[in-house]
Amino acid sequence: MKSGKKRQRVRSAIAGLRFARSRPSLGVFGGVTRVMQASGQYEISTDRGRLDVALIHDFLRSSDWARGIGRAVVERSIEHSLCFGAYLGGRQVGFARVITDFAALAYVADVFVVPEHRGRGISKLLMRAILAHPELQQLRRFLLATRDAHGLYRQFGFQPLAHPEHFMTIHKPDAYRNGHAA
Ligand SMILES: CC(C)(COP(=O)(O)OP(=O)(O)OC[C@H]1O[C@@H](n2cnc3c(N)ncnc32)[C@H](O)[C@@H]1OP(=O)(O)O)[C@@H](O)C(=O)NCCC(=O)NCCS
Repeated sequence: MKSGKKRQRVRSAIAGLRFARSRPSLGVFGGVTRVMQASGQYEISTDRGRLDVALIHDFLRSSDWARGIGRAVVERSIEHSLCFGAYLGGRQVGFARVITDFAALAYVADVFVVPEHRGRGISKLLMRAILAHPELQQLRRFLLATRDAHGLYRQFGFQPLAHPEHFMTIHKPDAYRNGHAA
């Protein structure tokens, strides 16, 4: 169970999220990467150049949803997503990415926190940063899929699909085992 002190730390970190312009970078927003700085212990950043790709790949290839995924696939997914890293003392401790057209729709994917930093509110910092991102304010819909973290996303306004029968998918659960895992 979390202590009151820990909750307070998370609350102040969330309250302290702000956006700042940083050095010209990977060109997500006209050559400028936006960085979000948490005032507390943890920092959330959208600078793809800071991501620890080895850590992300290591986590995802053993995850339930991307088991066996290849490093090149992870790199490509990062390259084409708006990525959010969580950092402590410069070391990456969490990740989430948003696949979006920056106009109407966004899909939140690959949310994780490294085991030793779980239960400290980091996923909530990530979700807060995603939903506060200035380029994602006018969207009509956010989507995500989760096996058991509904209680996390519900805190941020996500609801089960009102009409799941209106949605369809092409799902290839074996894709990473069939030659796309390079
Ligand atoms: C799920 C995960 C990202 C949560 O990260 P975290 O930083 O430990 O979570 P937080 O400390 O921010 O707290 C999450 C909150 O959501 C709640 N929650 C609901 N479902 C949860 C779940 N399956 N796992 C963790 N927390 C969950 C927690 O109880 C907590 O509630 P609180 O606000 O009342 O304290 C982390 O446990 C993780 O990386 N799990 C493995 C990967 C995974 O399952 N990712 C989700 C894919 S959809």
